[in-house]
Amino acid sequence: MAIVLIGVPGAGKSTVGKILAQQLGTTFIDTDSVIEQVAGKSISDIFIQDGEPHFRQLEKQIIAESLANNDAVISLGGGALMDPQTRSLVKEQNCYWLQAGLSQAVDRVGMNKNRPLLLGNVRGQLADLMAAREPLYIECAKHVVDTNKLTAEQVANHIFEEVRSD
Ligand code: S3P
Repeated sequence: MAIVLIGVPGAGKSTVGKILAQQLGTTFIDTDSVIEQVAGKSISDIFIQDGEPHFRQLEKQIIAESLANNDAVISLGGGALMDPQTRSLVKEQNCYWLQAGLSQAVDRVGMNKNRPLLLGNVRGQLADLMAAREPLYIECAKHVVDTNKLTAEQVANHIFEEVRSD
């Protein structure tokens, strides 16, 4: 099974995923980066030029392809689980929800400009995303890690130990 990392923007999925894949000696796939490579432009440009539905379609396809790679550590964009097909594929994997509180996610997202859904009122937008998506994360996750007081290294170590002892 692949190890799939889910959670809101700012939960640390990409940072943790990179460290964890290195620890496990396996491939790391950041599906947002794959989307950017395939589209040949940034996530922001896809949203602006092609619209969110086009982004979601690409996202769904690329996640389905990535999940076929059984050994990888795979981080998903925060909104990926809005798609029912993605939810059912993710449920078959070893899925970790990196849980983050609002303040922590806001701090981590910072001024990153490549998050089109958070433009303007970052705190307000994140609070809305969290409320809407939390049920989806709960539905799909086999494990939950409370990342609030942990560094990315500590989160990765925690998952690494758990995976190793399985
Ligand atoms: C999105 C989250 C982003 C990216 C896109 C949409 C979302 O990924 O997929 O901007 O809908 O929450 P991160 O969770 O890595 O920021």
